[in-house]
Amino acid sequence: MSLRARKVRRRQFVQILATCFVLCFMLFWTPLDKHVVSHMKSYSYRYLINSYNFVNDSLSLSRDNLDRITSYRYLINHKEKCQQQEVLLLLFVKTSPENRHRRDAIRQTWGNEDYVRSHLNANIKTVFALGRPTDNIEGAHIQTKLLMENQKYNDLIQQDFLDTFHNLTLKLLLQFEWVNAYCPHAKFIMSADDDIFIHMPNLVAYLQSLVEIGAQDIWIGRVHRGAPPVRDKTSKYYVPYEMYPWLSYPDYTAGAAYVISRDVAAKVYAASQTLNTSLYIDDVFMGLCANKMGVVPQYHVFFSGEGKAPYHPCIYNKMMTSHGHVEDLHHLWKQATDPKVKTFSSSFFDRIYCRIVNIMLLCKLRYVDTYPCSAAFS
Ligand SMILES: *[C@@H]1O[C@H](CO)[C@@H](O)[C@H](O)[C@H]1NC(C)=O
Ligand SMILES: *[C@@H]1O[C@H](CO)[C@@H](O)[C@H](O)[C@H]1NC(C)=O
Ligand SMILES: *[C@@H]1O[C@H](CO)[C@@H](O)[C@H](O)[C@H]1NC(C)=O
Repeated sequence: MSLRARKVRRRQFVQILATCFVLCFMLFWTPLDKHVVSHMKSYSYRYLINSYNFVNDSLSLSRDNLDRITSYRYLINHKEKCQQQEVLLLLFVKTSPENRHRRDAIRQTWGNEDYVRSHLNANIKTVFALGRPTDNIEGAHIQTKLLMENQKYNDLIQQDFLDTFHNLTLKLLLQFEWVNAYCPHAKFIMSADDDIFIHMPNLVAYLQSLVEIGAQDIWIGRVHRGAPPVRDKTSKYYVPYEMYPWLSYPDYTAGAAYVISRDVAAKVYAASQTLNTSLYIDDVFMGLCANKMGVVPQYHVFFSGEGKAPYHPCIYNKMMTSHGHVEDLHHLWKQATDPKVKTFSSSFFDRIYCRIVNIMLLCKLRYVDTYPCSAAFS
């Protein structure tokens, strides 16, 4: 049997299995809470239909509406940031005007361009993407402080939209517009929250290995597969049917941190110019853009979603990102990038030891939002 036929067979088998599973589930456990049911429905939708062709043109703008996409004016910009240099990674940190202490911590740790140049021999560019503060006296005060901060560090990119949760898609558009206009030659682009930890030495080594094999079509992170839109009106993530009518979102990576290659950035930018941007969940919107261009995300087990990585040298040796670090960022950076971590896990017995430790840390019966159990075996 050819490989292809075997693959098709396996897929059919998985589909039948999933159908049975879902049917049993619906028959016996219908009273279960709505949350679980919507997940089951959307999950089966994703695996039975097995593609996202159902996302049709109803989300695209009509021809007469295309000129409605006006980008917001830049209040602070650094057009020259990327110029005339080979850039391995353009790092966009999504931040809010009042998060000065987070930005400072990032400048001193994983976002530090000088550190990456001197210790890792690579060129990265770090910029902070943000909207504007509220229209009142306090907002004006914050804006003044932002301008001073920017004079000192030259790394803020600000557009003239209100910096709110429901404007996150505008922040995403800002990033893709900026890459397209001022940094199209960066080999990789990363988008990250300002409460995340990135193990820059591990990430840079990984990206360099991708460059070596000439990898393209790269979109890596913690992938959400078959996630359902939230229809509960009280939720922060509530999405009405008019905005998104289907049972399941296309696969997408958690917005907390993901990496794309420049060809993907160009494609997503092109798609973003044709879609209705009212869907304010930015990572889902990114998924829609990518889906339109036929780009699929790849799961990297050491990218975290909402969760934190366990604190252990055996984890530091492989981790890429971990979510929810503000107060402990300096400490974690110091621990995780200590050269001892590498030497510690180099011998055969160390590797066995780390394998066991990682299994104990990651493979628990009770669900913990951290790296998946499979990460212990990678
Ligand atoms: C797109 O899909 C929706 C929901 O499945 C359907 O109601 C609509 O008619 C479709 N629109 C087009 C243009 O195909
Ligand atoms: C998004 O930003 C625009 C432009 O500043 C503003 O008019 C709008 O109210 C903001 N939307 C939300 C939901 O905050
Ligand atoms: C975008 O979609 C929303 C519904 O979510 C709709 O109200 C709005 O008119 C659409 N915008 C355009 C320009 O088509």
